[in-house]
Amino acid sequence: MEWKDVDWQVLRTLRDRFLNPAPGDYWLSQRELEHYDLAFAPRIGAKWQEIAERLAKSVRSTGPWEILDWGCGTGIASRVLVEAVGAEGVEKVSLWDRSPLARRFAAERLGARGVSTSENRGRPPEGRYLLLISHVANELDAKAYQSLRPFLDNAAAWIWLEPGTPSASQRLIEEREKRRADWEFVLPCPHSSVCGLVGNSQDWCHQFAAPPSEFFTQSEWVHFGKEMGIDLRSLPVSFLAAAKPGLWTRSHSNVQLGRASVSKSHAKALVCDESGVRERSVRVHSKKEGDRYRGAGLIQEWKEKPRE
Ligand SMILES: C[S@@+](CC[C@H](N)C(=O)[O-])C[C@H]1O[C@@H](n2cnc3c(N)ncnc32)[C@H](O)[C@@H]1O
Repeated sequence: MEWKDVDWQVLRTLRDRFLNPAPGDYWLSQRELEHYDLAFAPRIGAKWQEIAERLAKSVRSTGPWEILDWGCGTGIASRVLVEAVGAEGVEKVSLWDRSPLARRFAAERLGARGVSTSENRGRPPEGRYLLLISHVANELDAKAYQSLRPFLDNAAAWIWLEPGTPSASQRLIEEREKRRADWEFVLPCPHSSVCGLVGNSQDWCHQFAAPPSEFFTQSEWVHFGKEMGIDLRSLPVSFLAAAKPGLWTRSHSNVQLGRASVSKSHAKALVCDESGVRERSVRVHSKKEGDRYRGAGLIQEWKEKPRE
């Protein structure tokens, strides 16, 4: 599908369905999946891209891995991961979605890239697998969560990514606290102790991914942003990557939450490290120095003394 074939009403319906989830199947037709994959998936893909790049710096053990994409939709999460890791690092991708239409769509897209796929049957695989969960939290009622739980319990590692909203952050923090005894939290967390936001209802854990340049340069994207009321310059994300102890390493000691506010003389931001989450402020001497604090990376470390 190309932009010239888009039915804007289909995109509006999909957007509304995501923002106001209702019981029942998410996908009503192949056409809806094609629309989603063209217009919504690339934003999600850009978030996964940054995580994959960052993870490449942290992963100690090499593949091949089985990747399990839970609630796969069009399969954008696993597609980006496979591309980043390289097909040789992936044994196969297992796809699980309550929608058979989605499972088939995702398998076709991955298959077209030469990736071996299988349809999961709603049960965790036997061997070692990396679990991906993307943009499903607002559809998880208690029963759906019960069906996800064994996948989390039995994974070697998992990455759960959601839009960077307070409720998504809260959901991930709850999961993190439940699982602290058995997992190391590698990204974005700079430590695996109690989350510094527990009991804090004002702030939330979110970062920003860098939007692809075509969002600014191609007229279709500009039109899409206006039609859907989405600010394409901003890709907020709340996410959590966890692994069994010793599997992945962490290479940062603090992480900035949200955006820094930068004035002529100071940069200020909420920063998380082992001692907790608190606001930090530093003097800046030039616009260039200030911009470094504003940052766009998913894991923006707070440098007390920026280098010139
Ligand atoms: C907003 S879409 C996200 C799709 C994809 N993960 C992505 O990031 O683009 C949510 C997906 O979760 C699936 N889903 C919702 N509840 C589910 C459940 N209980 N079990 C499996 N899949 C579920 C839906 O069918 C839909 O494909």
